[in-house]
Amino acid sequence: MLTIRYLGHSAFALNDGSREVLVDPFLTGNPLAAAKQEEFNPVAILLTHAHNDHVGDTVEIAKRSGATTISTFELGGYLESQGVNAIAGNHGGTLKFDGGTAKIVPAWHTSSYSTPDGVVAPGVPAGLVVRFGGKTIYFAGDTCLFGDMALIGEEGLDIAVIPIGDHFTMGPADAVRALKLLKPAVAIPCHYNTFPPIEQDAQAFAREAQEKAGVKVEALKPGESYSV
Ligand code: NI
Ligand code: MN
Repeated sequence: MLTIRYLGHSAFALNDGSREVLVDPFLTGNPLAAAKQEEFNPVAILLTHAHNDHVGDTVEIAKRSGATTISTFELGGYLESQGVNAIAGNHGGTLKFDGGTAKIVPAWHTSSYSTPDGVVAPGVPAGLVVRFGGKTIYFAGDTCLFGDMALIGEEGLDIAVIPIGDHFTMGPADAVRALKLLKPAVAIPCHYNTFPPIEQDAQAFAREAQEKAGVKVEALKPGESYSV
């Protein structure tokens, strides 16, 4: 059993009935945040890339809860330097956490983590194929459309979490094309309406996805959950 709760922007909380896992927990400073970082006590924090709107509250939550972070190599090195228990891999690798696994897959984007002292964690962005609670969930992270999503679709996706905001990632039209390749049972859109350049109509996207890709979309509002 799996419950996925949308926390706003690209932040999600997964629960398998006994364990909590966070994905890209950008809560402090997130205009759409549906929760505060203090509310979470995860066993793992899964990160798609180093951008500040994805790493978010990771260091605070991980140090307080003892959660293990899962990320690509350079970001993991930075998190470790901050006192976090980090597991760092790279594309193609499947990393284990308490109760599940995350396979690191490609994403077309950039990756950097900015602090007042400058950029501290360059590296590469990723998507994640997560197996948790008996389900397979693809977190595309920030990415454009790319043809190898067809290979990711062969993993057999119960849920695909994909960006639709445009400007920094694919927009709704390319997200519909992505769903034709990914063929998930259900899609959940993210990375939209947080800031003016990424305002989108999720209901219009849901209709297009059903009509053109035959995929059901659960357009969760921040704070809402979906269970499978
Ligand atoms: Ni990004
Ligand atoms: Mn982003």
